[in-house]
Amino acid sequence: MKSGVASRNVVLVGFMGTGKSSVGRLVAARLGFQFIDTDARIIQETGQSIADLFRVRGEGFFRACEARVLDALQTTNSAVVATGGGIVVPPENRPRLAQLGFVVALTADPETILERVSRTTKRPLLQTADPRATITELLSVRTALYQATAHYIVNTTGRSHSEVADDVIASARAFLVEPTS
Ligand code: S3P
Repeated sequence: MKSGVASRNVVLVGFMGTGKSSVGRLVAARLGFQFIDTDARIIQETGQSIADLFRVRGEGFFRACEARVLDALQTTNSAVVATGGGIVVPPENRPRLAQLGFVVALTADPETILERVSRTTKRPLLQTADPRATITELLSVRTALYQATAHYIVNTTGRSHSEVADDVIASARAFLVEPTS
């Protein structure tokens, strides 16, 4: 287990619809940490919605913004960082996530993801003719990447944000406390 300066934040990764932002806000409130959402930072910096960024500038532009936001966070302390579901895909982002702090991957089964993401149209990658197939396809690439990046994995299927936040905090506690010797 890592210790010292790298242990200063909690970072949430995981597929769309696994509850990273909602759980992250709760974890931040309970730990007295700042809450940061990489998608929200990108929206703030560009003045455009994620949907517009994908549509007008393309996914490559969005990924470059995401990597830049991740780099800029490296000096952050005492924060809970919720990330976009694709942040683990570019290989150079993965060590940057681990350097930022304790990385927790939130998971959910594909049916739960489909049900949760169907509530909104704000995710450009899932505006396809067959979102179920798209989810399966993206998960087949990304599941191993979340697992390889995370220090800990929490399944959110059938669980409340509050329960998941409790698990995240319990797993992160030992990591966030600086060793005394
Ligand atoms: C994406 C996930 C989204 C957002 C963008 C791309 C992805 O964030 O970053 O639409 O590639 O999985 P959420 O995981 O918060 O939905």
